[in-house]
Amino acid sequence: MAAEEPPTPPAPAESGGRTAAVIPAAGRGIRLGPGAPKALRHLNGTPMLVHAVRAMAASRAVSLVVVVAPADGAGEVKVLLDEYEHALPERTEFLVVPGGDTRQESVRLGLDALPDDITAVLVHDAARPLVPVDTVDAVVEAVRGGAPAVVPALPLADTVKQVEPQTGGRPEPVVATPERALLRAVQTPQGFDRATLVRAHATVPATGEGATDCAGMVERLGEPVVVVPGHEEAFKVTRPLDLVLAEAVLARRRANDGF
Ligand code: CTP
Ligand code: MG
Repeated sequence: MAAEEPPTPPAPAESGGRTAAVIPAAGRGIRLGPGAPKALRHLNGTPMLVHAVRAMAASRAVSLVVVVAPADGAGEVKVLLDEYEHALPERTEFLVVPGGDTRQESVRLGLDALPDDITAVLVHDAARPLVPVDTVDAVVEAVRGGAPAVVPALPLADTVKQVEPQTGGRPEPVVATPERALLRAVQTPQGFDRATLVRAHATVPATGEGATDCAGMVERLGEPVVVVPGHEEAFKVTRPLDLVLAEAVLARRRANDGF
């Protein structure tokens, strides 16, 4: 009997192959308050998800965008992307898959849908609709340069305290004050060598609410993660005030484009 061929290991991101962006968009947006799922809420008349898809497709390096839709809303999201087709570049392919109960599960479902020739993956929150293309390109470039995991991040404005959480609104004792200059607030898109991210999702168990950050899962594999400069406009739309800020950013862009 002939020995079985060993499986061919996937090519690392640096050796060529295509780059895809997976956009987890299956969250409800509880902190934003009552209304449609967050990704479908409008900013200046356009759904947040469409802004996020455009932001990924704006990078020439990204040839496929996989949208992970609310589990019961994949059909609606497909219709939406068709409706906005004119506003999206022709060179980009789109796929829509239903999401899961946690961000970690939604990202994994997005990864499962990737074709074989994808060697580098960006994971980008639909809730960060305004990330500039230069930030996307900087992340892709670092992955293509050989980094297994790349996160855009910014220094913190606020000092951070570690506390011992209390129930019933009692004051929380402070446990430690990490040195602010050593801390970074991380954003998305986070970029990965595909095989590394797939291994992280296969190995790191989903506990509780699951990982809110894919790079953290890669850290747990013991693989290096590097930071590149993030951007103010890549902030996450989380609470109602963030909607006001996002619309102000769009208004400023429109005013600047007009001149
Ligand atoms: N996400 C997802 N699937 C989930 C939960 C979250 O795809 N089960 C996505 C969200 O759609 C969002 C990104 O992960 O684009 C970041 O999550 P977050 O900002 O926390 O969004 P929500 O979970 O929707 O908001 P909230 O936590 O306030 O409910
Ligand atoms: Mg959430």
